[in-house]
Amino acid sequence: MDAPETLTEAQLQQNDDGSLRHLLTLDGLDRGMLVDLLDTAQFYIAEPGSMPVRRDTLRGRTIGNLFFEPSTRTRASFDLAGRRLGADVLNLDVNTSSRKKGESILDTIYTLEAMHVDVMVIRDASAGVPAYIARHVKDFVSVLNAGEADTSHPTQGLLDLLTIRQHKPDFENLVVTIVGDIRHSRVARSAAHGLKTLDVGELRLVSPSAMAPDADEFPFATIVDDLHAGIRDADVVMALRIQRERIGNLDGIPGIDEYFANYGVSEERLTIAKPDVIVMHPGPMNRGIEIEGAVADGPHSVITRQVTNGVAVRMAVLERVASSAKLR
Ligand code: CP
Repeated sequence: MDAPETLTEAQLQQNDDGSLRHLLTLDGLDRGMLVDLLDTAQFYIAEPGSMPVRRDTLRGRTIGNLFFEPSTRTRASFDLAGRRLGADVLNLDVNTSSRKKGESILDTIYTLEAMHVDVMVIRDASAGVPAYIARHVKDFVSVLNAGEADTSHPTQGLLDLLTIRQHKPDFENLVVTIVGDIRHSRVARSAAHGLKTLDVGELRLVSPSAMAPDADEFPFATIVDDLHAGIRDADVVMALRIQRERIGNLDGIPGIDEYFANYGVSEERLTIAKPDVIVMHPGPMNRGIEIEGAVADGPHSVITRQVTNGVAVRMAVLERVASSAKLR
């Protein structure tokens, strides 16, 4: 039976006993589950160059990766995460799938469900698609949001929180600055929701006015248009790319040189942040626009650590939903 339309995404994703049925959003995910996912992911960290951690907890399960938007990091890490837990992984090539012949997304899901795909990993350009699918799947299927419009990217949010925690675990005393195209960024939204749940000391959202969010959406954050003010004494600086694929009208969007001059995270700008500031970027990066190459490759950068953490976070999420699914 379909889940009632009245259930919020947060209610839809956790069972009555608190276990994780789906992962749709970090907005409303309870703190206990969020911390459990970070702790579980930490267990799966292996340093690049060492053998990856493997377990058999998903043996017999099948994961379907359905990416209706481009991806490198998220798709590859869900694929590796599933295989390292012993699952079968199906990477549907959506460009040659029957979606191109007019099949609806639900009929595509029902088709995969009939093949016993247990976990549907969905990336889509339209808001609400992962929750829509979650309302219609059978009891044994879990839906994981792998990036939804400008709304939500929960596994990215989790890997960002894990990366911060590894370097600076005292969230209540942190100043976190997110700089860039906040308005169109699902990464910023999921990071902000997770940071709020962990009671971050101060969250600053920095962007030109054409990329600023509505203040009503982030009452717990400080919204500024001056990077100099935004970066001062920051413990964490996260740079975001301009999400051109989601910007209908480019009026008011600064040109590349102007953008880098005012909003690019550069070595010079970082001198007023905390001496041990960490610099993050979810990727893909545009060097010389939102971040200087020397910063991306420099001593403050934790960008490759974020990528490593991405596999571990997705292993943790897969393991949690698999353990709560009602299997036949
Ligand atoms: N950060 C992120 O979602 O990257 P991809 O688009 O490469 O998956």
